[in-house]
Amino acid sequence: MSQLSSASAALLRSCARQQLPSHVARSAVAGVQQRNASNAGAKSSFESPFGSAEEANATLKIPSFKKYMSKGSPSTNKVFSYFVAGSMGLGSAVGAKATVHDFLTNMSASADVLAQAKVEIALDTIPEGKNVIIKWRGKPVLIRHRTAAEIQEANDIDWKTLRDPQPDEDRVQKPEWLIMLGVCTHLGCVPIGEAGDFGGWFCPCHGSHYDISGRIRKGPAPLNLEVPVYSFPDEQSLIIG
Ligand code: FES
Repeated sequence: MSQLSSASAALLRSCARQQLPSHVARSAVAGVQQRNASNAGAKSSFESPFGSAEEANATLKIPSFKKYMSKGSPSTNKVFSYFVAGSMGLGSAVGAKATVHDFLTNMSASADVLAQAKVEIALDTIPEGKNVIIKWRGKPVLIRHRTAAEIQEANDIDWKTLRDPQPDEDRVQKPEWLIMLGVCTHLGCVPIGEAGDFGGWFCPCHGSHYDISGRIRKGPAPLNLEVPVYSFPDEQSLIIG
């Protein structure tokens, strides 16, 4: 339709340019419109360049996949499938194990850090009745070589009445050796040895008094001094950590 109107308009424009009589131009336009209408009637049905649906179905061919089919029995095929699946699972497990192992190896502490994690002390250098302070993992550790009288004093207390009830035997592995973190359980100051009202340690920051077993007896601290992990590899050595 748009072709028709553009052809008519072009014909009218050329007639106007050549000064044709208007009735001649109108008859010419009518002739063009009739020709176009008859052409449109002839091509009213659509013809696909790819043929009709029936022709397409007639040429549709499904290829044969027979040459790809296994020639073995079903049980043989299953065995092969299980073998492939099992092999892939095994390979994946080995890969995952190697990945996790590498990750843990990289993330674990290095040898120099592990060396700092433990401290060994020669106990024969600490006389009876004396304190020693060592540094372990950035914290002070108090080591007391207790006398027999101090051990007796620590055990004579009715520990059930204390603020943080704990018997002395639960705080030591050997009665003569008392090992504790030198960190006040109130706000973390370092208590002073052989001081305070109970002959143990005294924290000058806010006035906490600990007895000869490191148990809180007076002042604002809520808990006894903490006992770290330690062991005695032999009679004269102590390992902290
Ligand atoms: S920090 Fe020791 S009493 Fe407050």
